[in-house]
Amino acid sequence: FRFLRWTWRATYLSAIAGVAWVGYGIWDMRHPEDQAQPDPSKKTLVVLGTGWGSVSLLKKLDTENYNVVVVSPRNYFLFTPLLPSCTVGTIEHRSIMEPIRNFLRHKKAAVKYYEAEATKIDYEKRIVYINDDSEIKGDVSATEVPFDMLVIGVGAENATFGIPGVTEHGLFLKEVGDAQRIRNRIMDCCETATFKDQSPEEIKRLLHMVVVGGGPTGVEFAGELQDFFNSDLKKWLPEIKDTFKVTLVEALPNVLPMFSKQLIDYTEKTFKEETITIRTKTMVKKVTDKYIEAESAGPDGKKIVEQIPYGLLVWATGNALRPIVKDFISQIPAQKDSRRGLAVNEYLVVKGCENVWAVGDCAVANYAPTAQVASQEGAWLARMFNQMAKTHEIEAELAELSVKQEKAPGKEVRDAVFADIKDLQKRLRRVKQIGPFEYTHQGSLAYIGSEKAVADIAWWSGNIASGGTLTYLFWRSAYISMCFSTRNRILVCVDWVKSKVFGRDVSRV
Ligand code: FAD
Ligand code: NAI
Repeated sequence: FRFLRWTWRATYLSAIAGVAWVGYGIWDMRHPEDQAQPDPSKKTLVVLGTGWGSVSLLKKLDTENYNVVVVSPRNYFLFTPLLPSCTVGTIEHRSIMEPIRNFLRHKKAAVKYYEAEATKIDYEKRIVYINDDSEIKGDVSATEVPFDMLVIGVGAENATFGIPGVTEHGLFLKEVGDAQRIRNRIMDCCETATFKDQSPEEIKRLLHMVVVGGGPTGVEFAGELQDFFNSDLKKWLPEIKDTFKVTLVEALPNVLPMFSKQLIDYTEKTFKEETITIRTKTMVKKVTDKYIEAESAGPDGKKIVEQIPYGLLVWATGNALRPIVKDFISQIPAQKDSRRGLAVNEYLVVKGCENVWAVGDCAVANYAPTAQVASQEGAWLARMFNQMAKTHEIEAELAELSVKQEKAPGKEVRDAVFADIKDLQKRLRRVKQIGPFEYTHQGSLAYIGSEKAVADIAWWSGNIASGGTLTYLFWRSAYISMCFSTRNRILVCVDWVKSKVFGRDVSRV
């Protein structure tokens, strides 16, 4: 009994401590302290982008060491791993957005933020040209920002490989707006399919949801969509239940190529059970407003071209360079062979440049373009910048002490100054010891629908592959813990409960 009583007390106290901790987090978030103003006499560090790479840099950066300026057309950070859930309303998009203003307001020294797109980097002049491309424009909507140091973290755009019709008719899944467009289009297709006197052919087309690209984006979206149909759409629109169909089209022989063979098989088996059709070895060559044209090999090895009608087309075939990155590559001779992004060295310095670094999807450092890589790069760069500032500080102090030592009146004072110099030199050596960036792969996770997920987790020098409902619980807890803020964590949990209890919202806005 005594043991039970103590266990009960410990649980009770931990619950109180947990609530107090969350409460303090919320209070702290709502009450930012006064900040030191940016110091223009310090070096100007311009950061482009507010995605995984740039924000993880800003999170760890001691902003009082630099005059920091952030430029991005998106005034929020987006937690992309949960974006597929927003396409069907499992999670509301605002729950995975963190306003950049809130975040920057908590830094020790203020950071300037401009909501603008960087249109060009002039490396020779050390200037970034920026453009306000929002709806409301003031008298000035284009200007320039000079820099001493520049971090490029602008991510990538959607690859279309120049396939005709993709941009006009396909929907992408990269930004919040994309998820909202998909959510609306799904409902539009369903409502239009149930319109009076619609022909059976047209109903079939409208209810055919095609996803092109069997990478994790395509797979996660297809899984979420089938969940939406199974748990909600089927109930509220019973007339579509025999016609609604999800097809995933992939050019390679299998989906999720970055996962282990056993998880690829597990995903394909789960999709089959969920009645999602997978069309592998099928390459989409053309898109029109009503059908896609896909090429595959027939049983005799001969090429077959078929037209697949669709109502919704989601295009998820990976990344392409942003125009600003393409333009920058063309300015730097050392980048002439860069095709997939800015080539960087092991210190993330853009090759052929001085004081220009690149992080995330716009940089090529032999790692996959993932949030995991981008955030580790950003955090490493922040540490390096902090150390660089410390180095300059110590070097300035050393110079001062050397003068003091020369002018010291007696041996005793000179010895004391000498001891200080020795200490500082030791500190300087320690501070300067920063090794090159090394990526630590923690594993890959993907949701595959029906409350199942797959995970390839790095473990010691090996790998653990697992798939199923337990992995799904792990997926959920991992992403909750990785959410940007306590606010995001609470909102996402509330959304999960809401969609479980009331179902997903099927209204179209
Ligand atoms: P981004 O996060 O894309 O940020 C780029 C930033 O630059 C944005 O703020 C953008 O507005 C800004 N920008 C764009 N153009 C300009 C310009 N001209 N000037 C200034 N700013 C500009 N990875 C994982 O590791 N795990 C996952 O589970 C996962 N899930 C994903 C799910 C989806 C649906 C998607 C699309 C991606 C997912 N990823 C995941 C990949 C991950 O999101 C990217 O690798 C990551 O976002 C890259 O970070 P980044 O900082 O390079 O770019
Ligand atoms: P991807 O590059 O991983 O996959 C795109 C797929 O589209 C490829 O398998 C390719 O063969 C296929 N494809 C290309 N052109 C085609 C065509 N014309 N017809 C048919 N298929 C075609 O792209 P994705 O999924 O957008 O991911 C981008 C990056 O983001 C990746 O690095 C990925 O690892 C990361 N990511 C990670 C997630 C996770 O870890 N859960 C989730 C989403 C993205």
